[in-house]
Amino acid sequence: MAEIRVMREDLLPPREPPRRHLISIGDLECQDVERLLGTARNFERSLERELKKLPTLRGKTVVNVFYESSTRTSSSFELAAKRLSADTMSIKSTGSSVDKGESLKDTALTLGAYDPDVIVIRHPQIGAPQLVARYTGAHIVNAGDGKHQHPTQALLDLYTIQEELGRIEGLHVAIVGDVLHSRVARSNIQALSLMGARVTLVGPPPLIPRGIEAMGCEVSYEIDAIKAADVVYVLRMQQERMAEGANYVPSLREYAARWGVTPERLRPGQKVMHPGPMNRGVEIDPVVADAADALIEQQVRSGLVVRMAVLYDLLTHGPAGVQAAALHEIGAA
Ligand code: MLT
Repeated sequence: MAEIRVMREDLLPPREPPRRHLISIGDLECQDVERLLGTARNFERSLERELKKLPTLRGKTVVNVFYESSTRTSSSFELAAKRLSADTMSIKSTGSSVDKGESLKDTALTLGAYDPDVIVIRHPQIGAPQLVARYTGAHIVNAGDGKHQHPTQALLDLYTIQEELGRIEGLHVAIVGDVLHSRVARSNIQALSLMGARVTLVGPPPLIPRGIEAMGCEVSYEIDAIKAADVVYVLRMQQERMAEGANYVPSLREYAARWGVTPERLRPGQKVMHPGPMNRGVEIDPVVADAADALIEQQVRSGLVVRMAVLYDLLTHGPAGVQAAALHEIGAA
């Protein structure tokens, strides 16, 4: 009689299908966030070594397509892919065929012809990442679509908070400023609430969308409300996204005077965050930006390891093995 052998794999729970894209924080559950932050932590340890490159994504191709300006997001995605040994290609709308009127669909079809494994896209229009997902077989990462979502920013913010304050659950975060035009605010409200933090939005009424409390946050129109928070998250005045001729605030000078985050408006020990780019002297006083309690540089550092974790997570097989595999790769490399 034939011998029946039980293979090790037979004893493991069935693998969940791999998550295809990261388009919104709404795509994630608590356990996904915890896994991604854990993987980022492992990568951070690997970067402490002299040789910073890991062989993990050798042979994979990551394409970055940016239709809007970016310093932090585009550079960190590119470096993240390189640190994992993937081949990278960066395309900016200026200087590409987009300048000649090529549609997003045609650009997606063109890039898709190279069979990239991941396309990272930033675009001023909401829904652009879904469109690229429809016309290519690549995993899509949303690096910012209009004022809708910027999921990797929210993940790197969670990572920064957890590293600096030791936890996320139970913390109170005040997000202050131009919430109306901010994809960072929308992604962070979802991400912080998902992980058990309390969120209060603070700003002048024209810059706080009506009904946003439905996302699970509180609203205050008093700048003094930031004093009650553990973390004060400052948003840029996003003038390029404001409707022409609309007067959301009388002037930037007036905004700075009434809503700017200054040392006097903070209490000692409060942590301050900003996604960048900062307008010093408008939404944030330079003294606050340069103080020891500002986590702004840490946010940039977190961006690299969190984006490495996102690329790794999308390109490995399913959630179950990711943490163990990451540890194995890092240990073995
Ligand atoms: C963004 O891309 O939304 C930035 O990171 C934040 C900003 O532009 O103010």
